[in-house]
Amino acid sequence: MAPLRIGMVGAQFAARLHLENYCPLRGAKVEITAVASRTKGRAEELARKYNIPHVADDYRALLDRKDVDAVDLCVPTDLHHELVIQAAKAKKHVICEKPLTGYFGKDRPEDLVGLAVDRKTMLQEAVANCEKVVRAIQQNKVQFCYAENWIYAPPVAKLKKLMQVSKGTVLDIRAEESHSGSHAAYSRKWKTAGGGALLRLGAHPVSAVLHLKQYEGFLRGGKGVRLKSVSAEVGQHTRIESFKKEPQKWIVDQWEDVEDWATMIMNFEDGSQAVITASDGVLGGVRNTMTVYLSNAVVQVNINPSDTVVAYAPAPHIFGDEYIAEKLETKAGWNFASPDEDWVRGYPQELADFADCLLSGREPVSGLALAVETVKTIYAAYLSAEQGQRIELAESIPLGAYCATTTNRLVRTK
Ligand SMILES: NC(=O)c1ccc[n+]([C@@H]2O[C@H](COP(=O)([O-])OP(=O)(O)OC[C@H]3O[C@@H](n4cnc5c(N)ncnc54)[C@H](O)[C@@H]3O)[C@@H](O)[C@H]2O)c1
Repeated sequence: MAPLRIGMVGAQFAARLHLENYCPLRGAKVEITAVASRTKGRAEELARKYNIPHVADDYRALLDRKDVDAVDLCVPTDLHHELVIQAAKAKKHVICEKPLTGYFGKDRPEDLVGLAVDRKTMLQEAVANCEKVVRAIQQNKVQFCYAENWIYAPPVAKLKKLMQVSKGTVLDIRAEESHSGSHAAYSRKWKTAGGGALLRLGAHPVSAVLHLKQYEGFLRGGKGVRLKSVSAEVGQHTRIESFKKEPQKWIVDQWEDVEDWATMIMNFEDGSQAVITASDGVLGGVRNTMTVYLSNAVVQVNINPSDTVVAYAPAPHIFGDEYIAEKLETKAGWNFASPDEDWVRGYPQELADFADCLLSGREPVSGLALAVETVKTIYAAYLSAEQGQRIELAESIPLGAYCATTTNRLVRTK
C-alpha cells in the first residue's frame, strides 16, 4: 500500500511534536510531502531537520498539491475550523490539533472579546463552527482525525483494560491538566485561543472523560453514557494583588482576557460525575492525571508526573541539557524524569492510529464526534461560570462512528 502523504501546517511547538512522532511511520506508512507556515523561516528550519521536500508560506499551497492526501493542522486554535473546511473542500483528509474550534469574535472590532461578549453568544457560535466543520467533512467525504493524545496515552489504555475486566460502574472521575502557563503568543487572547486554561488545557481531560463514559456504556453492550449537564467556575489568579506585587514571576502572567484557572463538574445521565481542573498556575512540571473511582476498583492514571524514574541533583546544571519533564522550572532537587514523555502521553500511538485510519478508511479512536462534544461541553461550562448555574446540554450531533470505533478498538486491544 502506498504511504499516506501529509502536508504539515504550522511549524512550531505542536508541529515539531507531530513531526518527531511521525518518524517511526515514515517510509512505510507516511510521507511528509510539505510544510507550510506563516513564518517561512521556521518551516524551512523544520524542512531541513525532518527532510521535508517542499516548503510554503501559505497553507493554500498545500491544498493545491496532488501529492498531499491529508493536512495536519498545528496552527493556533482560531484558524482550525476555517482550515478544516477549506481542506475538506480540497478533498484532503484532516488531522487537527485540539481543541477543534471555539468562539473568536473575528467580526468584532474590540480586541478583548473575552471581556466583552456574553458566553451564550459564544456557545452558540462555537456550536455553529462545529456544525460547519461536520457538514464540510461529511459533504466532501473526507476523514477527520482529532489529535487528542490522552485518548491514546498508554496509561489511559491500561485504565480501559482494567475497566473492561472489573466490570465496575464508573462513579466518579477526577482529572486534571495543569502547568505554569503556555508560552505561545496566541494563548493570551480569546480572539486567537478561544478561551483560557479550561479550553486549552481542560480539553484533554474533558475529552478523556467523555471517551471513557462512551466506552463504559459500550462495555455494557449499549450506547455511550451521555453528558447531561455541567457546572463550572473560572478564575484569574494572576490578577491577585499580592501576586502582582511579587518581583519574580515563576508562572506566566500575561493573560489578557482569558482565565488562568477553571474547575468544572460534568454530570452524566446515569448519575455519575467527573471533576475537571485546568490551571496555568501550577509549578513543578506539567500535571496530566486522572483518578477513576469504580464501584469495585480505583485506578490512578499518572501520565505526568510519574515516578518511573525519580532523579536527584544538588544543582540544576548537573543534568545539563538532558530532558527531564515538560515545563519544569528547575532540574535541581528531586524530580520525575520522564523516560519517554511523548510515548507516555500518547503522541506516537495517536499518529499511528491516524495513519492506519486514513490508509484503510476506518474511523479513528479520537474522531469528529469527540472533537465536537469537547467544544460543546467546555463552552457550556463557560456559560455556567458566567451565570452561576448548572447548564443542561443539548442532544449530541448524531455521529454514529464514535461508538463503532470504540468497539473496534476494544476487540483489537489485547
Ligand atoms: N496536543 C498537545 O499536547 C498540544 C500541545 C501544544 C499545542 N497544541 C495545539 O496545537 C495548536 C498550535 O499550538 P502551538 O503551541 O504549536 O502554537 P505555536 O504558536 O507554537 O505555533 C503555531 C504555528 O502556526 C503558524 N501559523 C499561524 N498562522 C498561520 C497560517 N495562517 N498559515 C500557516 N501557518 C500559520 C505559525 O507560524 C506557527 O508556526 C493549538 O491549537 C494548540 O492547542 C496541542
